Amino acid sequence: MKSIRVSLKERSYSILIGKDIFSRLGLLIKDRYPKPRHVLVVTQKEIAVFYRDRAEKSLACAEIEASFFVTPFSKSSEAAKSQNVYWRLIRQMAASSGKNKSLLLVALGGGVIGDLTGFAASVYRRGVPYLQVPTTLTAQVDSAIGGKTGIDLPEGKNLLGSIYQPALVLSDLSLLSSLPDRHWSDGFAEVIKYGVIKDTALFLLLEKRGKEAIRTNPGFLEDVVFRCAKIKARIVEKDEFDKKDLRIALNFGHTAGHAIEAASRFSRAYTHGEALSIGMLIACEISLRLGYLKDPHLPMRLEKTLMKFKLPLFYKNIKTEALLKSMGHDKKSTSGVNRFVLPITLGKTCLVSDVPALVIREALEKRRG
Ligand SMILES: NC(=O)c1ccc[n+]([C@@H]2O[C@H](COP(=O)([O-])OP(=O)(O)OC[C@H]3O[C@@H](n4cnc5c(N)ncnc54)[C@H](O)[C@@H]3O)[C@@H](O)[C@H]2O)c1
Ligand SMILES: [Zn+2]
Repeated sequence: MKSIRVSLKERSYSILIGKDIFSRLGLLIKDRYPKPRHVLVVTQKEIAVFYRDRAEKSLACAEIEASFFVTPFSKSSEAAKSQNVYWRLIRQMAASSGKNKSLLLVALGGGVIGDLTGFAASVYRRGVPYLQVPTTLTAQVDSAIGGKTGIDLPEGKNLLGSIYQPALVLSDLSLLSSLPDRHWSDGFAEVIKYGVIKDTALFLLLEKRGKEAIRTNPGFLEDVVFRCAKIKARIVEKDEFDKKDLRIALNFGHTAGHAIEAASRFSRAYTHGEALSIGMLIACEISLRLGYLKDPHLPMRLEKTLMKFKLPLFYKNIKTEALLKSMGHDKKSTSGVNRFVLPITLGKTCLVSDVPALVIREALEKRRG
């Protein structure tokens, strides 16, 4: 098992990464919170079918009183970040903790469950502690770390949120074994992103081994999750409240990626990671056109690596105009300010504002399939 300390004064916590460590959940809670507390495990039906029994057993062995909040199965996982589900969760928190009992939440799920649970924990009684037990690769390398929490409103994603750190992140690699194939690729898009922005050795490993070798080799997988979690932890330590333009490096590929994701929201043609894959290539192209890219081989190497992880290189059935509009660069507003994280070489990026609309348009056109 590997461990990373996230140093944030009194909000410091550990990230534990290893195989089959989920069974220690109860003991880890008991260790940190010796006085009796009611533990409410928040999860989704798709995840509960695999792991509810093991969670119950581990908590019971440590003599912890526990209950579950399970969001119903839905075609869209994001539906669990709705006002309705959030409100039901808050009401169950109130019911299960009673007047005087302390409460502890456990987020057992991907980014959706992590964001929902963290947000509910941050506001209930002005804050109760919560643990992250991430069950997707995306959550283990990204969303479970750093304390960004939130739910969606009909007007938009993540509009209600807070920055509220977990008390512990328990990343058990064995929990990923039930993850559908497409979600593995999704998570690997974020992993490749870390390689490009900060970790050449990680990129080399990904480039050399590819998806199946890493996914099925516990040693590689542990190393990959550890490296990414460490990069995120170090950035969060320097910019916990996202005020210093440091966390923004993590947004490499996300400006165009978000636009592709938004444009395909109804068809659900592209997941977040798939859109990110194309978004990273668009950022490379912009960097090349603006003269920031110093390593001419980087785009081709990135493209080959993305292919190895079954990630798309081109967007289809989306109008370039729709993407420009989504990025604030439609025909009407050619002077809107945008910000792109652009690669310079492997491991090095820069932040560039106000990229000309024509450059973005040409970069987008190059990635239209
Ligand atoms: N807080 C942050 O810093 C941050 C960062 C990135 C993304 N996010 C948020 O994370 C969310 C996306 O998270 P995600 O990509 O982890 O997806 P997700 O939470 O929607 O999970 C993906 C799907 O896989 C299922 N699933 C999860 N774990 C499983 C397992 N082990 N076995 C079988 N099925 C499993 C889920 O039920 C869901 O249907 C978005 O809402 C996004 O806004 C937050
Ligand atoms: Zn992302």
